[in-house]
Amino acid sequence: MGGRIYGQAPRDCGLVDLQPTEMMFWQDLFIKPAKQFEPVLPANLQQFGPLIAAVMRAEGIDRWIDHNVFMCAKTLWVSAAESMNRRGWHTDGFMSSDINYVWSDCYGTEIWLADELVSLTQDHAASIDEMTFLAADPFYGSIVTYPDRHLIRLDETVVHRVAEYPVARMRSFVKVSLSKGYFNRVGNSINHQLPLPVAYEARTAERNVPASKEAA
Ligand SMILES: [Fe+2]
Repeated sequence: MGGRIYGQAPRDCGLVDLQPTEMMFWQDLFIKPAKQFEPVLPANLQQFGPLIAAVMRAEGIDRWIDHNVFMCAKTLWVSAAESMNRRGWHTDGFMSSDINYVWSDCYGTEIWLADELVSLTQDHAASIDEMTFLAADPFYGSIVTYPDRHLIRLDETVVHRVAEYPVARMRSFVKVSLSKGYFNRVGNSINHQLPLPVAYEARTAERNVPASKEAA
């Protein structure tokens, strides 16, 4: 990990044409353990079956089976003042091998594309400052978004942030995370059909810290 790898483009895995309407807030729900093929989805989340199938297809069945899988699913009212995710430049799974697929029906994630890939200090706080500095200056790269309802694959090299929400409206956002570890922060959604096999740990205010612990 590390080196001049940051600022890469995500992979656009194409349209997944869902129109969720039920309000919800699921955070890092455990939906599948490694070595198992079938996800275990609460009834409210079964509507996202086509999106999960698209993740399986894009990632490949071997890698799908190889990883623990977690899911965020949020359909909420958003406005300039009320974001559903934390704002600011970051990478998902910084300094980890986690893979994240994101999907939204509006106000898509903003991606910073480096003209030349950059290295970042391998420290969660210093790297945030560096990303913020680089993305603010068009000399280093550009900011792009992908079409609504497209599934986008991110690894730790993709620098991105939540979009602004200038006009208040309902917004749906889904994230499917593949990890070798477990997302075990206190407060994460609990899958009552699939208990997390590790203890929960306190949630911290810091960001860009890997949400999961890599298995030893
Ligand atoms: Fe993110």
